[in-house]
Amino acid sequence: MKKILIIGAMGLLGPELNRIFSSDSSYAVTGWDMPDIDIGDEASVMEKVLPLKPDIIINAAAYNAVDKAEEPEGFELAKRINGYGPGYIAKAANKLGALLVQYSTDYVFDGEKREGYDETSTPSPISRYGESKYLGEIEVMKNTDRYYLIRLQKLFGMPSHNPNAKKSFFETMLALAKTQDVIKAVDDELSNFTYAPDLAKRTKYLIEEGMPFGIYHITNEGAPVTWYGAAKILFELAGIKGIKIVPVAQEEFPRPARRPKYSILINTKLEPLRRWPEALKEFLEDYGVKTSSG
Ligand SMILES: NC(=O)c1ccc[n+]([C@@H]2O[C@H](COP(=O)([O-])OP(=O)(O)OC[C@H]3O[C@@H](n4cnc5c(N)ncnc54)[C@H](OP(=O)(O)O)[C@@H]3O)[C@@H](O)[C@H]2O)c1
Repeated sequence: MKKILIIGAMGLLGPELNRIFSSDSSYAVTGWDMPDIDIGDEASVMEKVLPLKPDIIINAAAYNAVDKAEEPEGFELAKRINGYGPGYIAKAANKLGALLVQYSTDYVFDGEKREGYDETSTPSPISRYGESKYLGEIEVMKNTDRYYLIRLQKLFGMPSHNPNAKKSFFETMLALAKTQDVIKAVDDELSNFTYAPDLAKRTKYLIEEGMPFGIYHITNEGAPVTWYGAAKILFELAGIKGIKIVPVAQEEFPRPARRPKYSILINTKLEPLRRWPEALKEFLEDYGVKTSSG
């Protein structure tokens, strides 16, 4: 039986990882989040992780407040959790000979390449959050060779039980649809979505198939969309009518952090995942929203 440690177990992705590995009797799963461990504190990481002796460590913990990270205090926290934290975990993994899975983001790219970015593209972040996640990539690669560094984008799935959890875009839109007749959505940021259960399954696949260590891009397939395009597909699938969705430019939605305009993650290493609208339909059904064809 393999010992697996999931850090960030209370987030959006963590519970899906927990579910998939716990349902397989070949794994003994430990799930930690704050305050069980503080990944930004090297001593906490070493004191907790080394005695546990996991064979596999999956780090899904992160600081995901993209706009707050533009402020000096937020940026320090982002570097601590997204940057140095993964480095400490990688050090512990290396000491133990354990395999490490670390997640990163399309926001490490500048979003100027319309055709998208593959696993070999060079990051060039345009936000502090992106910088902190890129620092995490560097720290992982510096401290261990046995890693899967998985970049994903726009994660969605069942809400976590964590009271601090950020809502996914689809949840936010469903909530807005209950109170507003007109919703503005940004129409000049093109990317794809990643369904948490699909990502968790693919993570398990990488580990079990013994895929070569390195960088992977894992998102759902389907035509890339803007937030506006995604909201339209959501409302169609959910059969929500009578709401006007207004496409707006990034500039009309002033936010402290810049977002990449074209951040399509190209996957050249793995079989494609299913299309994101298909995954969205499954999510809606689990979320209790009757879909148009179901
Ligand atoms: N969500 C997205 O759209 C998205 C997009 C691209 C990449 N990613 C990446 O995908 C991975 C999973 O993201 P997610 O959306 O599941 O994240 P999430 O929902 O924000 O969950 C992260 C978890 O980590 C915990 N955490 C924060 N600081 C910690 C620390 N110092 N020590 C231990 N745990 C700590 C958080 O607890 P608190 O909430 O109490 O702080 C939270 O439970 C992350 O690497 C993220 O950067 C996510």
